[in-house]
Amino acid sequence: MTAEQASAAVSEARQWERLMELATIGAIPGDGVNRACLTRQDRAARRTLIAWARAAGATISVDDAANLWLRREGSEPDAAPVLTGSHMDTQPRGGRFDGIYGVIAGLETLTALHEAGVVTRRPIEVVAWTNEEGGRFAPGCMGSMAWAGVKPLATWDDVTDPEGVRFSNALIEHLASEADLPRRGLGSRPYAYVEAHIEQGPRLEEAGADIGVVSGIQGSRWFLVTLSGETAHAGTTPLALRRDAVQDMVRAINALNALMHDPKDVLRFTVGRILVEPNTSNSVASKASFTIDFRHPDAAVLEARGDAIHGVVQAAVRDAEVAIEESFHAPPIEFAPEVIRAVEAAAAAEGCATLQLSSGAFHDAQFVALVCPTGMIFVPSRGGVSHNPAEFTAPAQLAAGTRVLARTLVALAG
Ligand code: GLV
Ligand code: MN
Ligand code: MN
Repeated sequence: MTAEQASAAVSEARQWERLMELATIGAIPGDGVNRACLTRQDRAARRTLIAWARAAGATISVDDAANLWLRREGSEPDAAPVLTGSHMDTQPRGGRFDGIYGVIAGLETLTALHEAGVVTRRPIEVVAWTNEEGGRFAPGCMGSMAWAGVKPLATWDDVTDPEGVRFSNALIEHLASEADLPRRGLGSRPYAYVEAHIEQGPRLEEAGADIGVVSGIQGSRWFLVTLSGETAHAGTTPLALRRDAVQDMVRAINALNALMHDPKDVLRFTVGRILVEPNTSNSVASKASFTIDFRHPDAAVLEARGDAIHGVVQAAVRDAEVAIEESFHAPPIEFAPEVIRAVEAAAAAEGCATLQLSSGAFHDAQFVALVCPTGMIFVPSRGGVSHNPAEFTAPAQLAAGTRVLARTLVALAG
């Protein structure tokens, strides 16, 4: 009965209006959003979220990694809470739904429970994880990794954004702006975690499914490759005398394409960011650095090919010195069968068509899964488009996902 009430109290219109209001904070042309973590825009979006959560009777706190927590008490306040949430930061040319949907769907559930007067046995907490995207400070998932104890928060103190701002300083400044909020420590032991998210791929739409029941997440590894040569005059220096970092980068990327070749098209290999020094037309490059984002569902392939990167780059370059740093390593994970079953039962109760699928994108759930039973709920992405201003999911599809989330959370919270 309580699950019915919670589902019935979910408001498609309120949820859509809130998503559209938050999309104005950091709006970019073409319906997109650029809201990097720990920026003025991030703080404004969080203040809006906090006001809505307070109106729904939630209590607010922030932890040492600036993960933001909204809590609704249960009838047994000491029982381990059921956790939901996602992230509020976006890619620099991001859309209106990646991340924020999961936070707003969690808030919509709290609001629906509040309005329907439903009391669960366990508390329910909504968390907005810090820096999931890794767009401003690499890598992503810093907030969830620090909370889960995968890495100490200080690991990323010296990471800088493109303007040279250190992560540790951005975090201190951000936490000072939220000094009015009660502080909690990193780490806790939730009963379970369920994250709602847009699919970011085409499979649900192709299958005509309303809800993706997520079985797990493929593994990801990030590397930064730096090639150091020597700058020289573009008009006067014979090719044979050059130590051209850009030409070596081309050799390295060609060799990596061969290493990462996969006729089955399961493996994902991306070079998404390139920096060149001195970056002028008429100087040979002294330095070229590029990122590698490499993903695979099979842990053995992720290990073997990731570990081969250094040797392949070293063998491919002609003149440059090679330095390679690994900044992110998320092993593939399988979600907990009991959470998968709870999502399936909730979707069935809603009459939703489901598809079980594995996630190609990484999520904070990948690290939360190391701490407690975890699962995810996907809603369709139009055309499979994501990390793009054109990202779109219809209000009714988002509401269906939230009703499934609300039922799942109530079932787990008892
Ligand atoms: C998350 O944003 C990812 O890149 O998978
Ligand atoms: Mn996301
Ligand atoms: Mn993303």
